[in-house]
Amino acid sequence: MDAIEITGGRPLRGEVAVSGSKNATLPQIAATLLASGESRLRGVPDLADVRTLGRLLHHMGAKVERATDGSLMIDASGVDRPEAPYELVKTMRASVLVLGPLLARFGKARVSLPGGCAIGARPIDQHLKGLQALGAKIELAHGYVEAQAERLRGATVLFDLPTVTGTENLMMAGALAEGRTTLENCAREPEVTALAEALNAMGARVLGAGSSVITIEGVTSLRPMDITAIPDRIEAGTLLAAAMITAGDVLVRGARAADFDAALAKMREAGARVTAERDGLRIVGPERPEAVDFITAPFPGFPTDLQAQLMACLSVARGASRVVETVFENRFMHVQELSRMGADIAIDGHTAVVRGVEKLSAAPVMATDLRASASLVLAGLRAEGTTLVQRVYHLDRGYESLEKKLSALGATVRRVKG
Ligand code: EPZ
Repeated sequence: MDAIEITGGRPLRGEVAVSGSKNATLPQIAATLLASGESRLRGVPDLADVRTLGRLLHHMGAKVERATDGSLMIDASGVDRPEAPYELVKTMRASVLVLGPLLARFGKARVSLPGGCAIGARPIDQHLKGLQALGAKIELAHGYVEAQAERLRGATVLFDLPTVTGTENLMMAGALAEGRTTLENCAREPEVTALAEALNAMGARVLGAGSSVITIEGVTSLRPMDITAIPDRIEAGTLLAAAMITAGDVLVRGARAADFDAALAKMREAGARVTAERDGLRIVGPERPEAVDFITAPFPGFPTDLQAQLMACLSVARGASRVVETVFENRFMHVQELSRMGADIAIDGHTAVVRGVEKLSAAPVMATDLRASASLVLAGLRAEGTTLVQRVYHLDRGYESLEKKLSALGATVRRVKG
């Protein structure tokens, strides 16, 4: 298994471009199942999760390939096996996003239950409740969701809590349902808005994405999409945090402030200077960050996917920071590993108190999940000595050659065969 080796102490300087958004393109790839014909998705990042979902659609009978310009070409005309087997779903829970489109277009779906994952139980009860409201018959048997529906009928769905992929699944199901679907207490993430734009480009009639009430007027058929991925705001935030923890000066091209205002506000509060410049965001990190308190929350709150990365920055801050993780029940697994590098962090349930230390010391550490692995790389950029982050297959799920981007900014970082 590959590892990432980082020798800390170098301030990052220069420009770096953000790749296309993983969490926007995954639902858009699933949405291609709603139409027959060839869809073109431009600017799709080359990530393990994208390849996994491509394999899943291929398994169903779709044609999936990369064009010479890098676009992802998907033709769902030949889909004849509306099922998502456990072997594929267990490696990527976002596979559950095929449930809505398969039901909407084929009237049936057999999708493996995703099971838990490192950061939490992550049930899909809200997805299933919503699909049942649209008339689907849902059975859970042998670890699979067996769903069928003559034709989905529009209905009102009130989510118990804002769920990103739950909102996305129901938007896709409602697109071909009969009549109007109203979704309430929706997730408002930019990735949800991007999916609505893709669906409307296919001829769907989705209104209100980005707010907590989304209405979808069902249509009888949809045409293939030709869309461009939005920038990955979590990768952008991770790159900004890398400049911050190394007291660097970096322009992150493609970063859009409106995608993560709450995170930018906390970086500024911690002493970073963040300005909109040309086609991106420029950050000048402080010599040493100031402690700040923050709480993760659904958009537009502080994104849980940037919690581990900002915590790495705060581990060397002046003062103590309180970090509250409200979205997932087990998203502090980076804490033990940061502590091995000299961080002083105490966990009490959903709250972590991060007492800033003067410096971190390099150590061999273990990645446990996608964003935790990013935070360990960030800590390695600051720590004295050479840090080895193992099990970087976690990192490869959501970052397109992060080590190449960091070394282009002056970091001493390389991938080694683990
Ligand atoms: C999406 O996951 C993202 N993944 C996650 O990013 C992100 O952390 C998360 O949203 C929150 O922003 C993709 O978009 C592919 P949720 P999702 O449903 O949709 C509970 C990354 O690092 N819940 O919004 O699975 C759930 O347990 C990944 O890129 C239910 O209880 O998250 C969680 O506590 C990690 N029942 C909360 O809601 C349900 O039916 C929010 O989950 C659904 C969710």
